[in-house]
Amino acid sequence: MEQRKLGTSDLTVSAVGLGTWAMGDDFFGRVDDNESIAAIQSAIDHGITLIDTAPAYGAGHAEEVVGTALPGRRDKVVVATKCGIVRTGGDFARNLKPESIRQEIEDSLRRLGVDTIDLYQIHWPDPDTPLEDTVAELLKLQQAGKFRYLGVSNFPPKLLDQIRGMTEIISTQPQYSMLERSIEEDVLPYVREHGLGVLNYGTLAGGVLTGKYTEIPEFEEGDYRATFYDFFQEPVWSGIQKLLYELQMIAVKRGVTPAQVAINWTFQQPGITTSLVGAKRPGQAEANAAAGTWLLTDAELKTITAAIDTHVTGK
Ligand SMILES: NC(=O)c1ccc[n+]([C@@H]2O[C@H](COP(=O)([O-])OP(=O)(O)OC[C@H]3O[C@@H](n4cnc5c(N)ncnc54)[C@H](OP(=O)(O)O)[C@@H]3O)[C@@H](O)[C@H]2O)c1
Repeated sequence: MEQRKLGTSDLTVSAVGLGTWAMGDDFFGRVDDNESIAAIQSAIDHGITLIDTAPAYGAGHAEEVVGTALPGRRDKVVVATKCGIVRTGGDFARNLKPESIRQEIEDSLRRLGVDTIDLYQIHWPDPDTPLEDTVAELLKLQQAGKFRYLGVSNFPPKLLDQIRGMTEIISTQPQYSMLERSIEEDVLPYVREHGLGVLNYGTLAGGVLTGKYTEIPEFEEGDYRATFYDFFQEPVWSGIQKLLYELQMIAVKRGVTPAQVAINWTFQQPGITTSLVGAKRPGQAEANAAAGTWLLTDAELKTITAAIDTHVTGK
């Protein structure tokens, strides 16, 4: 598995990271905890060295699952979690007030069963809280040893600039995949210029880039992924099917899967450090980890980017 430095920090992370949103068991359909735990352990055993979670995933449940899976493997993995999205019932409320973060980090440490969090990320900006107040509290928590490095998520360049004027951050976490490439215009040039690491999320576009759906799926009750990833609808759906056909051709030649091609293309884009991929079962985690053990050639990358432009981006 390809390993990379995360920004200017001393953290080394795999080119494929494990995402745990689905493991919260309240957004991506039903997920069995034992399967989630086995998936985390399998990911680590197959070379994945970064696990991303958040209190927002299942209102703490995903963190508990990670905490159950970690004993015996803690030293092999960078543990990344977040603050700033507080769950009340089904609502996801933005809250970066100091008192809220103080509570959130204690809860995360307890659920994860760790002494310190390796990477603590602001999940989303909170327009109702001055960023200065948030940063002042985070610095106190960092000095107290609650977390090692600070990162952000879903921050546009203007906000990245603002926070970097107040403290050091090492990474950002934006959505990025073959189907959502808007950060190529602004965030990726910015991180390359300033040496920030990038953990991109939604690498498989919520699963559509596996190619496993022959028609637009009707997700089971409790599976809301199509409200977050808007690829499960026309007109984009038909273009995605044409792209998947081209991914399949490359996959067959290489003896891999279209999902593995999609993951490999993503972490090879300039500026991407680690591509987060969600998994619900150990088989998925193992297959996704295997996508980081080889590299698409420059010619293959160009062919794929041209296919994305033709069928999806419409360039
Ligand atoms: N910072 C943020 O705001 C933010 C937002 C979203 C996500 N994230 C992070 O990024 C991570 C990755 O994104 P994501 O989980 O939302 O979406 P994703 O990685 O694009 O898709 C994950 C889903 O695809 C399916 N899948 C994964 N591997 C597969 C395989 N090998 N074969 C077949 N199906 C497979 C699984 O669902 P099924 O089996 O049900 O199809 C899985 O839950 C999250 O888990 C989370 O840690 C962060």
